[in-house]
Amino acid sequence: MHLIFIGAPGSGKGTQAEKIRKNLSYEHISTGDLLRLEVSKGSELGLKIKTLIDSGSLVDDHTVLELFSNNLRLGSKNYILDGFPRTLNQCKMLDEKIFVGSKYKTIYFEIDEERVLNRIINRRVAPKSGKIYNLITDPPEVDGVCDISGEPLIHRDDDKEEVVRNRLDVYRKSIVEIVDYYDKSSKLLRIDASLSSEKVYADLVKGLN
Ligand code: AP5
Ligand code: MG
Repeated sequence: MHLIFIGAPGSGKGTQAEKIRKNLSYEHISTGDLLRLEVSKGSELGLKIKTLIDSGSLVDDHTVLELFSNNLRLGSKNYILDGFPRTLNQCKMLDEKIFVGSKYKTIYFEIDEERVLNRIINRRVAPKSGKIYNLITDPPEVDGVCDISGEPLIHRDDDKEEVVRNRLDVYRKSIVEIVDYYDKSSKLLRIDASLSSEKVYADLVKGLN
């Protein structure tokens, strides 16, 4: 069964997806990571994507769907979808064109906005290893360096407070209809994402069984 993670920026989707990937042998696909990879290539498309991400806006459905489906290898693998779908149109496209009958469950990471703002401002990431840190709750052993790969940690350009506030505005506009869509199909599991990372993980695993 595939898993879809929905929730506010900073609600912990990427953190939990990596735990589930490692411990329960899922594949993890994050549209944010795919888009940032395209940006790092410096292509014309990458430059357009960067402008949108850095302002806190969504990238258009067509571009996201193409990147997403080009990187998905449905078959024997169970996937965690992190950050996709995030519009009602993407929900419908996923059901009608990509999953077409495959089983899945949607996990909704519920959390208040002030808490996520604080988490994001203190987030640092290691793009190569994929490890996500937090300067307060989960710092690296050596300041500014990834424990796994030794690479320098990055502060995402869209993690500045004013951009995060825009991302939260965008999120607020779309989440209601997405939750409604999955609520109707009884595929929604709500998780209290304000708890510690360990507790969220335990609740997730319990909810999946
Ligand atoms: P994306 O990269 O997906 O960002 P997001 O959804 O805004 O989510 P984040 O990655 O910011 O947060 P997260 O929930 O993964 O939290 P994390 O685990 O890192 O998208 C970026 C942009 O790309 C979008 O704004 C948009 O422009 C574009 N985009 C992406 N997908 C798109 C789509 N489908 N359609 C259109 N555009 C798209 O945790 C955050 C911090 O909190 C970390 O520091 C972590 O250590 C800490 N933390 C995690 N859990 C806990 C806990 N339980 N307790 C304490 N701290 C915790
Ligand atoms: Mg993420």
